[in-house]
Amino acid sequence: MIRKCLFPAAGYGTRFLPATKAMPKEMLPIVNKPLIQYAVEEARDAGLQHMAIVTGRGKRALEDHFDISYELEHQIRGTEKEKFLAGTRELIETCTFSYTRQVEMKGLGHAILSGRPLIGDEPFAVVLADDLCLNLQGDGVLAQMIKLYKQYRCSIVAIQEVPRDQTHKYGVIAGELIAEGVYRVSSMVEKPSPEDAPSNLAIIGRYILTPDIFDLIADTQPGKGGEIQITDALMKLAQDGCVLAYKFDGLRFDCGGAEGYLDATNFCYENLYLKGL
Ligand code: UTP
Repeated sequence: MIRKCLFPAAGYGTRFLPATKAMPKEMLPIVNKPLIQYAVEEARDAGLQHMAIVTGRGKRALEDHFDISYELEHQIRGTEKEKFLAGTRELIETCTFSYTRQVEMKGLGHAILSGRPLIGDEPFAVVLADDLCLNLQGDGVLAQMIKLYKQYRCSIVAIQEVPRDQTHKYGVIAGELIAEGVYRVSSMVEKPSPEDAPSNLAIIGRYILTPDIFDLIADTQPGKGGEIQITDALMKLAQDGCVLAYKFDGLRFDCGGAEGYLDATNFCYENLYLKGL
């Protein structure tokens, strides 16, 4: 079944400059925990144990975060503060982490292709850590998608309804509703203007992909913005009826920009941090 999760984390994070000049966007904290840790926890809670992270120049902090810090841990051993590292420690002990570098930042599709040596020939999940997804009422978004994969055995993209004037920020799908919240995708457009958008159903940063996607990405020419887009490669799979879109239960915060980041911070402070979760 699905064992591995790929985290493309090589982007420049230009919307968050200067904070992201020397620090990966995925290390930005939501209250006291970095975005990448929320993402890895979501994957672990969905039953995945192999975390494959695509990094780039200046992203060393990501590897250090999922490693033991002997000096620091020695310093706080036996104190009240030990509990703050317990969650991170548990991830290090229960999951395996592997890394590869995307040498040139040629887009999300290219970042996923860079992860191929870590994934191999099996279906896998993809999480964009700057899209923070939370479902306090039940299963996390990735766990919901994995359940769906077991039923349909197709690639799946997570979608969310967005206001029409926001479609230019997303990949947008067209499709037929086949079950509650599940669409069979017939078409996808990357960052369409509201007039060209086939719907207001926008793809967010959670995917389940079958391994045939790698060859399709390798054959994909740079699209919008000169980047190799995952939506262009997925479009080829969709033509064979093999892509589903899933309207998930839960909340999603776009933490790649200031507004979503602040909303996420306020939400997590009230609903998680103050409650000791
Ligand atoms: P974004 O579109 O948010 O781009 O990437 P970005 O560079 O991170 O941020 P801005 O727009 O400049 O502020 C979506 C996801 O894809 C990864 C990013 O790390 C992020 O998780 N990505 C993007 C790569 O890994 N490599 C790329 O070449 C581009």
